[in-house]
Amino acid sequence: MQKSWWKESVVYQIYPRSFMDSNGDGIGDLKGITSKLPYLENLGIDVIWLSPVYQSPNDDNGYDISDYCAIMNDFGSMEDFDEMLRVAHQHKIKIMMDLVVNHSSDEHPWFIESKSSKDNPKREYYIWKAGNEGKEPNNWEAFFKGSAWQYDSETDEYYLHLFSKKQPDLNWESPRLRKEIYNLMTFWLDKGIDGFRMDVINMISKDQHFPDGKSMNGNKFGDGTPYFFNGPRIHEFLQEMNKEVLSKYDIITVGETPGVTPDDAKLYTGKNRNELNMVFQFEHMDIGNGPLGKWSNLPWKLTDLKKILSKWQIELEEDGWNSLYWNNHDQPRVVSRFGNDSIEYREVSAKMLGTCLHMMKGTPYIYQGEELGMTNVSFPSIEDYKDIEIINSYKEYVLEKGMDSDEFLKAVHARGRDNARTPFHWDDSLNAGFTAGTPWIDLNPNFKQLNAKEQVMNPHSVFHYYKKLIDLRKKYEIIVYGKYELLMEEDEQIFAFTRSLGKEKLLVICNFFKEEPLFVFPEEESAKKLLISNYPVDEREPIQHLSLRPYEARVYLF
Ligand code: NOJ
Repeated sequence: MQKSWWKESVVYQIYPRSFMDSNGDGIGDLKGITSKLPYLENLGIDVIWLSPVYQSPNDDNGYDISDYCAIMNDFGSMEDFDEMLRVAHQHKIKIMMDLVVNHSSDEHPWFIESKSSKDNPKREYYIWKAGNEGKEPNNWEAFFKGSAWQYDSETDEYYLHLFSKKQPDLNWESPRLRKEIYNLMTFWLDKGIDGFRMDVINMISKDQHFPDGKSMNGNKFGDGTPYFFNGPRIHEFLQEMNKEVLSKYDIITVGETPGVTPDDAKLYTGKNRNELNMVFQFEHMDIGNGPLGKWSNLPWKLTDLKKILSKWQIELEEDGWNSLYWNNHDQPRVVSRFGNDSIEYREVSAKMLGTCLHMMKGTPYIYQGEELGMTNVSFPSIEDYKDIEIINSYKEYVLEKGMDSDEFLKAVHARGRDNARTPFHWDDSLNAGFTAGTPWIDLNPNFKQLNAKEQVMNPHSVFHYYKKLIDLRKKYEIIVYGKYELLMEEDEQIFAFTRSLGKEKLLVICNFFKEEPLFVFPEEESAKKLLISNYPVDEREPIQHLSLRPYEARVYLF
């Protein structure tokens, strides 16, 4: 196994809008981030993944970019960015930027020109098609609902937008467009940034026949994903990007790739493929999806979660590399989803989930507030929500299709993206110390009991537990490189596995529920060291038959 710094790193994701506001306008900003770098250094992370900070009209909170080489006014200036980067490096923290190049904003000058006439030189930067007998060119549905095509009367054609209509898809078939993208990547890398997280990067190559997709469950739209997930020229494009840009720098790259299988992932991240370091897969995040996708939010089974994560561990053992995550700005808070966010079990279950993830093989990602065990929020009304995905889905399911609004709100409480986007809890003062102004989105009211200030002072907090998990990874190579093996495959309560490297073995035991199941260790027990646990444990206690406490987690080294 080839060793690399990005395999040994822990990444921390910042969603700048909700992290720290320095100027009282209610929106997090770059100076706010700079002021909190000592906190992140104390936690021990190596890399920050910064969600987009580029100029944007904010239809999708910065994932709609109108200038790739300028900073969003809400977040500060380019000087603020340079200062943040400088101070981060001083603290030995690397910065990975979000790269959103499947689409731009419709307010990007490229799009404004592209739209202006059929013979504008930038016409080819976007995907324009004539209508099909007065209708959209095909039946694809946008992820943010409605048709993926928007009619434009100026030139009597439609443009493709896989997300909102303010996010037109870029046309990667155009070599000139690709060159522009490589240039803007080079602009940032030459500033000294340390890598890119690439937004929906497996969607940039579209099947040029643009066939209709299958429509399911009475949906009038069709599913276009077979024609743009891992499309025909995807690997050619990424290899070109690698040759032109990535290969020239020692950086970390991670592709966001919905719908990928481990075989796909090996093509993106395998040895000698010259594409990316790792990808974000979604299979474990899609657990519990039903006919309405995440808005169905069905019950889940631990055996399903184990099967998925173990499959990824095993299949990328020899080739490729895993990214490990429970959370990001698009997902609900993990302690509410796979743990237990009641007062009694929140801390212990947050620690257990951290243990399970950080002891697997791959690069772990922590989403802001996860290191405190921040929870989902249940805003009382749809009006309280800001996310375009929630708002558009509400319009379609409730207003157009008649779904019960309480039922929809319940699904939003469980799975909506704004669960992750409420402001970070710094302390128990006004607005949790996030802003002196009016926050752009309401806070989770539990910040009085759950905040960074309290947890940094309390050695038994979730924060200190995460700090220890990160520290263990730095001390024990087996946590980074050891081979994974699942134990008790069929058990519905316990997620246990081993990692092996040379003569060493690591045993990870996690009880995912509040019942007290019996853990059985099938092997002869040798001299062992307890590396971490979320309850007091006597290291000498025999573990061949162990009755676990609610949400108990232990890691032993043999
Ligand atoms: C994935 C991003 O993570 C999400 O927040 C965004 O809405 C879509 N891509 C579109 O850019």
